[in-house]
Amino acid sequence: MKKKVSVSFLSSKDIIDDLLEIDSTTADYVHVDVMDGRFVKKKFLPFKILNKLSYVLRKRFDVHLMVNEPIKFIEQYATLNTEFITIHVELGEIDNYIDLIKSYGIKVGLSIKPDTDVSVLNNYLDKIDLILIMSVEPGLGGQKFIEEATARIEKVKKMIGNRNILISVDGGINSDTISNVSKSDIVVSGSYIVCSDNFEEKINSLR
Ligand code: DX5
Ligand code: ZN
Repeated sequence: MKKKVSVSFLSSKDIIDDLLEIDSTTADYVHVDVMDGRFVKKKFLPFKILNKLSYVLRKRFDVHLMVNEPIKFIEQYATLNTEFITIHVELGEIDNYIDLIKSYGIKVGLSIKPDTDVSVLNNYLDKIDLILIMSVEPGLGGQKFIEEATARIEKVKKMIGNRNILISVDGGINSDTISNVSKSDIVVSGSYIVCSDNFEEKINSLR
């Protein structure tokens, strides 16, 4: 399967302009980082702007919730053109959130921070569609790729076995680090693309 590219606009200087530009490329998804200022320090709540633009954007959203209380955000993003809603496994007690996402017919992702033991994912493997392996500490764009992510991808791939679960990787992905994540199905990339002057060229360099 050809690798899919999901473009994060967290580091965008002009969000509207960049979203329109991402939409004109061959990107597979728009990666939507949502931050509540509690699960991570920074706040980034782009729903209003995406809701306004939802009439012109054609790309589907790949929503990454870095929040302590996901319910409100799941309900919001379920009203948009959303393929995946991903919550963090570190929240614990996440079965209700998984069921809520599914109730909207949206695919469920589970994200895992760099220091969390991947074995916690075992409890959920029969209920989810995607695992988002963080290759940086969540909270900021433009950080350096954490090398251990490569081995974590392999470990998670083994755990998944023949289940139908996609592996996505998020943080520090660019043309230098892409070879470290060859086993992933989707790569999330932000600053490498949106801080460049040729989005399409950068996207293609990741496939
Ligand atoms: C980090 C976010 C990432 C980030 C990726 O918390 O989840 O999606 O925007 O950006 P880059 O590619 O700049 O690391
Ligand atoms: Zn993200």
